[in-house]
Formats: sequence, C-alpha cells, structure tokens
Amino acid sequence: MKKILAMVMAVVMVLSLAACAGNGDKKDDGKKTVGISMPTKSLERWNRDGSYLKEEFEKAGYNVELTYSDNNVTQQNNDIDNLVAKEVDLLIVAAIDGEALTQTLKNAKENGIPVIAYDRLIMNTNAISYYVSFDNYSVGKLQGEYIEKALDLKNAGSNVYNIEFTAGDPADNNARFFFNGAFDVLKPYIDAGTLKVVSGQTEFEKVATAQWNTDKALDRMENLLASYYSNGTVLHAVVCSNDSTAMGVSQAISSSYHGGNVPFITGQDGDVANLRNIVDGKQSMTVYKNVAHEAVVTLALSKDILDGKKPAAELAESQEIECTYDVESYNNGTGIIPSYLLVPSVVTKDNLQDLVETGLYAWEGDYLVSTAK
Ligand code: BGC
Repeated sequence: MKKILAMVMAVVMVLSLAACAGNGDKKDDGKKTVGISMPTKSLERWNRDGSYLKEEFEKAGYNVELTYSDNNVTQQNNDIDNLVAKEVDLLIVAAIDGEALTQTLKNAKENGIPVIAYDRLIMNTNAISYYVSFDNYSVGKLQGEYIEKALDLKNAGSNVYNIEFTAGDPADNNARFFFNGAFDVLKPYIDAGTLKVVSGQTEFEKVATAQWNTDKALDRMENLLASYYSNGTVLHAVVCSNDSTAMGVSQAISSSYHGGNVPFITGQDGDVANLRNIVDGKQSMTVYKNVAHEAVVTLALSKDILDGKKPAAELAESQEIECTYDVESYNNGTGIIPSYLLVPSVVTKDNLQDLVETGLYAWEGDYLVSTAK
C-alpha cells in the first residue's frame, strides 16, 4: 500500500512539474490571460486606458497583466519580454517608441502570441495583427478647424493673425498625423498671408516635443516668446497637439507673454488639469477621445482573435460605438495594418456637460474631476 502511495505521489509530482515547466507564473484557472503594456503613468490618459482596459477584460472573464514602463524604451522591451515569458495569450501594446519594439515583438510572434497595437501604431514589425485607435488625422483636423473658426479666417479680409505650432513626440507615429491634420487646414491661410507663423517654424521636426513633455513645451514656448514676441507682437493662436503640450504652452503664456490677449490654444485628451484651464479661459478646446470606448472595441477585437476568428469590417459595423474599419491609412513599413478607428470630438467651455454625460467625469464645484478608479 505504502509503495502504491509513493508511486502515486511521484506521478503527481512529475505531472505538476510538467505543468509548471515553461509556464512562467501563469495562473492555472482555465482563464486566458491578456498582457497590456502601457507607456507611462506620468500622462493622465494612459492611467485611464490601463484601468478601463483592465476593467473590461476582467469583466469579460480574462486575467490581466498590466505594466507601465515609465516612458523608458528599455523597460518597455523588458516588460513585454516578461509578459511573453509568462505565456500571455494576447498582447496589447501602446508603444513608447514605435520603432523600438521590433526584436521583442518578433519573440512574441515566435511564441505564437498575437499583438494588437493600441492607440499608437508599432512600426517595422510583422508581429502586429491589428491596430485600434482614434482617427488621428481627424484629431488634428478638428484642432485646425477650431482655429479657423475662432479667428474667422474665412472672412479675415486683410487681417493678419499670428500663430505658432507645438507638436508631439517624433517617436510616436500618431504625432505626425495630428500635426498634418491641423496644418493641412491652416496651410492655405499661411500661404495667403492671413496667418503668419512669426517664428517661421512650420516643420514637424522643428515644432515637435520629445515624449510629449510639458516642461519641454513650456521651455520652447518661452524661447519663442522671448525671441519673437517680447516687443509686444500679438500672438493670436497656438496649435498644440495634445493637453500635456498645451499645459506647457499655457504656462509660458501666463508667465512670459505680454501681448494683452490670451491666444487660442488647442489640446487633446480631456485631461482634468486642462479642463480646468478651459473653465478658467487659459485653454480654448480639447479634442476628446473616449478611451473607455477604445477599451470596449479592443476587447471585442481581442475576443475574436482569441476565438480563432479573423475579424474585419463586420466587427466595426457590429459595435454600438461609432468606429470604422480602415485598411488604407496605416502602413507600418511591413504593409498595411488593418485598423479600427474611433471618432474624436471637440470639447470647449460650452459643452463640458457632454463629458459628464459619458459617466467618466463629474462636476466638483465649477470644475470637472475624473470618475476613473
Ligand atoms: C495619444 C494622445 C496622447 C499622446 C501623449 C498619443 O499617442 O494618442 O492621446 O495625448 O500620445 O500621451
């Protein structure tokens, strides 16, 4: 009897060792695990993305491994390597540097793990199956159109308005889309002399902001103000690609601009501090992208992939959220990446209540706060 018991024990041990081998610390609860790699906690939106994605996937019965990489490319590569070692079933990645994940994602592919590029396209890799984002060109277009309307450029006559541009991180594939979207709307007015870029800085590389960093946007704007506007030249508008750069620009305007007006300043994301600036008249608008919706579409896509389906246009059509299936706009250097693109909208002082109606913001006195956990 003792002998039989010892044999049974030995078999059980061998079996459980086999189950552990190569299994990282994957939970053995029969649920699939999704690995989510976010760029940083230092910008408000990625905290919201992380928490909405986690919530959606857990509600749908998946385990979630969520990492933040502190805007550090090496760390993001390590974080993804770890998720691969843990044998996650699917990876969702918002890249810090779209060009810097090729080798790591090759490894994921070799391990049979499908990858979704989340919000930012990942370049030069054939490991990506799909891309989920907002229509990034439209984000910029909405910013350009806002300025066109605010300055009434169509009826400007012989008036000349001064403008500057602040774009995003060159390592982020989205940044050029935003910049081009805005620039294409405003370029005819620059060409006609109705808009004057006093600094002469109209190229993306010149106006870009590494890592979308607020302090860098602030420093650059202070330099522009000192160099081109200190003699009282009026600055009418600054196109900023997102809220973190808009924050730096409006700080520079408050401290170092003496033209007597507050320029129109655009933004993107609906960050709480920027919504406060909108209430206080320091920023004019933000392009809002409901990242809870981005999480919902990402979940629907992930489910299909994990169920062995090959989702295409019908997935976009079946969403309650407005979303298009795009197989033209996003080429990552290895070919077109099929994309699900959501629709951004403009938020100003006049429609802040729309944000409250999403359930993701609430009034606290005159200002909005986030309801995200
Ligand atoms: C996102 C923006 C965000 C920016 C900085 C972009 O890739 O699409 O929503 O403001 O990164 O984090």
